[in-house]
Amino acid sequence: MSNSNGIKLHPSILCADHSDIMGEIRSLTNAGIDYFHIDVMDGDFVPNFGCGIEILKAIRRNSTTPMDVHLMINEPSRHIKLFYDIGAEIITVHPEADRHIARTLALIKELGAVPGIAINPGTSIESIKELLPLCGHILVMTVNPGFYGQPFLEFTVPKIEALCKHSKEFGFSVCLDGNINAERVKRFVPMGVTNFVLGTALFKGNYLETIQQIREENQKEV
Ligand code: DX5
Ligand code: ZN
Repeated sequence: MSNSNGIKLHPSILCADHSDIMGEIRSLTNAGIDYFHIDVMDGDFVPNFGCGIEILKAIRRNSTTPMDVHLMINEPSRHIKLFYDIGAEIITVHPEADRHIARTLALIKELGAVPGIAINPGTSIESIKELLPLCGHILVMTVNPGFYGQPFLEFTVPKIEALCKHSKEFGFSVCLDGNINAERVKRFVPMGVTNFVLGTALFKGNYLETIQQIREENQKEV
């Protein structure tokens, strides 16, 4: 499937049917997704548990599609190498979870992965602006991290807009995570968002059709 329109789609494997994880990995790969989005949670930084390294290994064994790892864990610097060694292409950390976030971002880059930060709904750009030149990927949380299926938080929109204005200058991509559906992709592509995590909205339907629809609807805007 062509993805030449520049939009990158990252289905969240957390929302997949885990009783048939191999089948899900194959269906998503065949649907032409750009990245697997893998939500890793430690039950501490967020009040939930998420995917573990066995899922990353299963994806790496069964697909050549790149992996984007969203670490919702405390002190992520201790585990960066582990995720890099399994094959993560983008590694995203939460600044609130790391005492030396600039060092962690440098480590991710040094290893050869794309360094990313996730910005919580309650976190301001002002508080993370020094980190922007250090990132290749900015994951804007449009729900509070920890659970899928939550309502989209409209108050995050001015922040999305402001970050898009800096994306060319610093060379990062802006990715939205939290209740993203086809309608919201159409809404945010003209603003300059290029990457989208697809959760509940994708997994309740036919992957191939939804992905095809999103690519067709956004062909001209990018
Ligand atoms: C939330 C996760 C998301 C989530 C997306 O903490 O980071 O990636 O799985 O699911 P939806 O689209 O249902 O919000
Ligand atoms: Zn996520």
